[in-house]
Amino acid sequence: MVDSHDQEMSPIKVMGYDTKVLRISPQNIGNFVFHNPEKKFLEDWEIQLSKTSSDAQHLVKAAAQLRTSNIPVAFPTETVYGLGADATRSSAVLGIYKAKQRPSDNPLIVHICSLTQLRRLLLPEGHRVPSTSVDLPKDPIPSIYHSVISKFWPGPLTIILPLPSPSPFASSVTASLSTFGARMPSSLLALALIHLAAIPIAAPSANTSTKPSTTTAAHVIEDLSGRVEYVVDGGPSTVGIESTVVDGLTQPPVILRPGGVSIDQLRDCVGWENVTISYFTGVQDAIPRAPGMKYRHYSPKARVILVKGELTRCMVKKNLKQDGSVGIIRTKYWKNEDLEQNLMAKEVQSSHTKNFQFAAAGSNNSELNTKADFNRDTDSIIILSVKRFQASFGKEVYSSFHDIWTLGLGQDAAGIARGLFSALRELDLIGVDIIFVEAITDSEGDMAAAVMNRLRKAAELELES
Ligand code: TXA
Ligand code: MG
Repeated sequence: MVDSHDQEMSPIKVMGYDTKVLRISPQNIGNFVFHNPEKKFLEDWEIQLSKTSSDAQHLVKAAAQLRTSNIPVAFPTETVYGLGADATRSSAVLGIYKAKQRPSDNPLIVHICSLTQLRRLLLPEGHRVPSTSVDLPKDPIPSIYHSVISKFWPGPLTIILPLPSPSPFASSVTASLSTFGARMPSSLLALALIHLAAIPIAAPSANTSTKPSTTTAAHVIEDLSGRVEYVVDGGPSTVGIESTVVDGLTQPPVILRPGGVSIDQLRDCVGWENVTISYFTGVQDAIPRAPGMKYRHYSPKARVILVKGELTRCMVKKNLKQDGSVGIIRTKYWKNEDLEQNLMAKEVQSSHTKNFQFAAAGSNNSELNTKADFNRDTDSIIILSVKRFQASFGKEVYSSFHDIWTLGLGQDAAGIARGLFSALRELDLIGVDIIFVEAITDSEGDMAAAVMNRLRKAAELELES
């Protein structure tokens, strides 16, 4: 069940909705008022909505859709964009699976906006709701989670909780498990939307099943246009990779999916010193020998090949079709100059080189991307430089040249995580046939394990030089 792969369902049925993008800047929706300014979102809070701003009206519209309709709403979170629906209504949750073309055997994460909301869901119906801190002796949130909640919520951490009986959720949310995953996102827009809708929101990533997750509204439109009515656009996601999923109900606690919070960060928390990994890290587990035998996941249209060490001319030649073009995603060590030298046929006199730039998680050539001026973090989104050169790998060296597009995600794992899904999607838009990605070492940097986990799922081959 955990980390289970989205499966392909075809053919894609067109639903024909007139999809609208609702641009919202949290700065313009009104005032966030905290009952306990130190605990902020961990205690009760309110929004005083602006009566005049269109951003507030957009938010109200999206929240109303979540409350009343069975058509899911795409919305930003700090990890990836989510496709949300009322977790308490089966017909609404079914709408998620319809829009995503995803089978309903995979449990969904329930997104909440305050601990009070979570406690209310955990307590038996009609039970009095405790209203203060997580440290209450009768807190229905298991004590093992108190340290990680205080440290990482709101944020990219999903915790597995016992499902109360009777369950407040639609059965398709939990896929018949006796537990459920809960997360309080740190995106102000996500929090505001859940607060206004006043319901728990079930939300998987807002992509079509098997495709890379989406980190901008433009990417959501690419996948879900006509399949949802509203896409809330809050600018690029700042983390870029999904939340870390942890189960503290076992001893020792385990990480079920690596993500925005690293194992080292978790080990610093009381009760989590011995947290272990319970997801596949091996190549063979993730990449079967026979191509096409694995479920596709996080996969662009192009074939993805993960490369440890140097990318050689022989690797490219062997895996490239006659007239194909190549995408290369650079991370730590690969350099444009070296790649050109390694891959270019000697016979090529001059390379056709073209440089252009776009924002890693924002495609600034897209109309949908609002300049993320309300969020300091998004200002630091790295700029990718995409460079095109040509090389020949065939026998007919003078007549058959392959286009090669290279794109750098920077050297640090957090930056690579932020730009990864975006890079895979951008290379698909360029139309490359094959993408070589430079692997990083799982243990280097906080987000490296999460990056490599997604890459192993996206890749159909792993090569080492
Ligand atoms: O960052 C995220 O987590 C994003 C954003 C939208 O919040 N959501 C997301 O949802 O990635 P999804 O559906 O793509 O992934 C949910 C993950 C899966 O790995 C699933 O197996 C796990 O959470 N999960 C959910 N409920 C579970 C449960 N009761 N026990 C074990 N794993 C569970
Ligand atoms: Mg997903």
